[in-house]
Amino acid sequence: MQTRSAVSSNLTLTGRVARQSAETSFQHESAEDRTIKISVEQLNFYYGRSRALHDITLAIPAKRITAFIGPSGCGKSTLLRSINRMNDIIPGIRVDGHIKLDGEDIYAPGTDVVTLRSRIGMVFQKSNPFPRSIFDNVAYGLRVNNLARSRTEMRDRVEESLKQAALWNEVKDRLKESALALSGGQQQRLCIARALAVRPDVVLMDEPASALDPIATQKIEELIGELKEHYTIVIVTHNMQQAARVSERTAFFWLGKLIEVSETEKMFTNPGEKLTEDYITGRFG
Ligand SMILES: Nc1ncnc2c1ncn2[C@@H]1O[C@H](COP(=O)(O)OP(=O)(O)OP(=O)(O)O)[C@@H](O)[C@H]1O
Ligand SMILES: [Mg+2]
Repeated sequence: MQTRSAVSSNLTLTGRVARQSAETSFQHESAEDRTIKISVEQLNFYYGRSRALHDITLAIPAKRITAFIGPSGCGKSTLLRSINRMNDIIPGIRVDGHIKLDGEDIYAPGTDVVTLRSRIGMVFQKSNPFPRSIFDNVAYGLRVNNLARSRTEMRDRVEESLKQAALWNEVKDRLKESALALSGGQQQRLCIARALAVRPDVVLMDEPASALDPIATQKIEELIGELKEHYTIVIVTHNMQQAARVSERTAFFWLGKLIEVSETEKMFTNPGEKLTEDYITGRFG
């Protein structure tokens, strides 16, 4: 059996292996070694008889920020939720194709979905703290997955996560207070801390700042920039400026299809497809 590191080094986007990769476009972009963290291969997704994703093939590089953009209803959230199998709970769905995390198919029979979701955390548009204390919100995943061996370790990991989410200074003296007493922007950073506490590899964010004011949005954007050193991040956003500011790669979707994926700067200055250009210049959407 291959170890995880052997699997990911097989996926390094250089030389011969790169030419075999599902998405060939980044081999021209940099000579630097780049590892694929998530590989979506010919993915089709159905809600009952309605097909929401058509034959999506997309490689998501490790420790970079990838943005999903496109008009409402084009399938961004469906794809994002497919990456940690959050769609599984919706009755009548069907998925075909593959999504691989470090080369292993997450839809393979026998995949432990709880472990998968601790490796791939998620932050939603509307912050959803539990009606518990600030501390208990962040400790939640550690408790459920039995990840802290002592109370000291639990405290340390809660503190570490709150610091990573740039919230520690604002809450360190009120950890026992209800999370619901925090402001909207603080609640969203708390949800980010909760996702980080289990030390995932990947963080999926579905419009994480769309309900926030400009200052709270800026904080979340700065935070996302800092997190990419340690995490692979995928962010869905409706805000084109936000995609341009925070992400390094952008994927544009339209009617359930992936129209174009490239380096963000290229996408916004010299898109390859007319449809992308029309969308980013505001001609529709
Ligand atoms: N639970 C569901 N049951 C049935 N159809 C759904 C469900 N969720 C989404 N869809 C449909 O799948 C398609 C893609 O929806 P999705 O939510 O992925 O779009 P989106 O790009 O995230 O849109 P938005 O920008 O509005 O959030 C839409 O046609 C939507 O109506
Ligand atoms: Mg959505």
